[in-house]
Amino acid sequence: MRIPWRNKREGDWYDQDLLRTKHNHEFMGDPAFQAAYARGMQAAGTDYRWHWRVHTALWAAHCATKIAGDFVECGVGKGFMSSAIMSALNWDTLGRTFYLLDTFSGLNERYVNAEELKAGALEKSKHLLDIGFYAKSSEAVTRNFSEWRNVDLIIGPVPETLDRVKAERIAYLHLDMNCAPPEVAAVSFFWERLSVGAVILFDDYAYFGYRPQKIAIDEFAASKGVAVLSLPTGQGLMLKPP
Ligand SMILES: C[S@@+](CC[C@H](N)C(=O)[O-])C[C@H]1O[C@@H](n2cnc3c(N)ncnc32)[C@H](O)[C@@H]1O
Repeated sequence: MRIPWRNKREGDWYDQDLLRTKHNHEFMGDPAFQAAYARGMQAAGTDYRWHWRVHTALWAAHCATKIAGDFVECGVGKGFMSSAIMSALNWDTLGRTFYLLDTFSGLNERYVNAEELKAGALEKSKHLLDIGFYAKSSEAVTRNFSEWRNVDLIIGPVPETLDRVKAERIAYLHLDMNCAPPEVAAVSFFWERLSVGAVILFDDYAYFGYRPQKIAIDEFAASKGVAVLSLPTGQGLMLKPP
C-alpha cells in the first residue's frame, strides 16, 4: 500500500554527516541558527557540515540556560561547537563560565581503552592532527575564544585536568573526546555537581565507528539508573535526574 504522506516529493534531503533524511530541517534556514553556525565555521576555518549536530547542541545549551550552573566542554578542538553556542547565547551576558578542556595534541595514549587501541584510535588521532582537523596547539584556539570574557581554557589530558574546573554547579556538559575512558571519567567526576535537569551531550555516543564509547557510557548511565537517548545525528543525550 502506498502511504501518500511518505511519497510526497516536496522538500529537500538532509544528506550529510552520515545522516540522510527528508524530515523537516527548516532550522537550517533560521537566521539565528545560521549566524551561530557561521561563528562555529569561523572557529574551525571550515564547514564540517554538522548542521543537525549543531542544532541539537544549540537546543541543549538553550535548555541549560534555564538551569543553574556553568558550562563545560571536554574535547574542544578548534572550538566549532562551543563558539556556535557562545555566539547564539551572547555568552558574556549570562554571567557564567564556559570551561573548555582539551590536550590540543589529540588523544592521549594513556586514556584510550583496549578496544579503541585495537581499532586504531591513536593512528586516527595522529592523522586528524596531521590534516589539521584537531588543533595542534592552543594558540589559535585562545585567539578564537578571546571574543568572550567568561571562558576558562584548560590545557592537558582529561582526567588529569578535571579538578581545575572550579564550577560549583554545572548546567551543560558536552563530551567530545572520541575515546571512552576520559568521557566516563569526566561524567563521573562532574556527576554530583550537575544540577537537576542539566544536559549532558555525548557527541559520538551513537556515531558510526565509536561503539566502545557507547558501551562504556551505557555502563556508566546504568550505574546511575538513567538511560541515554540515542540520536540519529550520532549524538547521545542524557539529563541529570532529581
Ligand atoms: C572531535 S575533536 C573535538 C571537536 C570539537 N568539539 C568541535 O566542536 O570542533 C576531539 C578532541 O578531543 C581531544 N581529546 C582527546 N582525548 C583527550 C583527553 N584525554 N583529554 C583532553 N582532550 C582530549 C582531542 O585533542 C580533540 O581536539
